[in-house]
Amino acid sequence: MAEDLLSQLKTMSTVVADTGDIEAIRRFEPTDATTNPSLILQAAQHEGRRERLAAIAREATDIDDALDAVAVEIGSEICSLVPGYVSTEVSARLSFDTEATLTRARALIERYERHGIGPERILIKIASTWEGIRAARQLEREGIHCNLTLLFSFAQAQACADAGVTLVSPFVGRILDWNRNKWPDADFSGDNDPGVKSVKRIYEHYKGHGYRTIVMGASFRNTGEILALAGCDRLTISPALLAELAESHERIERLLSPIDAETSPPEPQDEGEFRWEMNEDAMATEKLAEGIRKFADDQRKLEKLLGELRQA
Ligand code: E4P
Repeated sequence: MAEDLLSQLKTMSTVVADTGDIEAIRRFEPTDATTNPSLILQAAQHEGRRERLAAIAREATDIDDALDAVAVEIGSEICSLVPGYVSTEVSARLSFDTEATLTRARALIERYERHGIGPERILIKIASTWEGIRAARQLEREGIHCNLTLLFSFAQAQACADAGVTLVSPFVGRILDWNRNKWPDADFSGDNDPGVKSVKRIYEHYKGHGYRTIVMGASFRNTGEILALAGCDRLTISPALLAELAESHERIERLLSPIDAETSPPEPQDEGEFRWEMNEDAMATEKLAEGIRKFADDQRKLEKLLGELRQA
């Protein structure tokens, strides 16, 4: 019998756990882990964390301080379990404010340093808006590594590579969701999956032009999407899909492999070109806006929870 799919996948791509669930991270032994405001909210609601979070909420100077303290508390726990990067997202509300993103990202890194965790372990996760990508460009110059998220379009991927960011998270499942919603009767299985196609295009563009930015496929709806990207630099996968991979035993084939760069990178896009390309892409425009709204909404729920714990 072939080895389980997860073990085979780990020989081709760096496997990342897309969760703040400590037990799942222990079980699947990923190299890295990613969180986002929705995953931090879930992790914060865990009964075992209640007392510690109440103490954090009471010690915090204000609600932003409390939010960052919770994200770093959970991120530090995860750092003790994985050898690689842990991604921590800056507040979704800052997605259109470069200066505020810079301030908050630096504060997160300082907070991690107070926990004894250096910047080489952390990826600051920022939405791939023009303002977010500008902030990431500056942070990378300061030695702070970034993970550019909510990435749905080729224009976003190009701008991130131009900015020299450490890693991008092109979303797969949310692109499929949008297309399924728009064309309910279309066949999006296998190679027709538009999210898979998007990641492949970005991967080939980066490798073909010699960009060093890591491509990490994210937001998966089924194991088929993951296996269609076997060989991608990194893949961040939810515990439910990690479990499915760990329980299946077919043989998998590597479908993406790095190639030697054939041409030097194209001229960087300017802001006008970026905004034009985004506006031409209805899916990317809608999914980016919706993604920011959803993360901000979950952040508000976490603020409410911390507010209640503060008073308890
Ligand atoms: C990880 O970086 C992303 O936040 C995550 O994969 C999003 O997944 P979802 O589309 O299932 O919420």
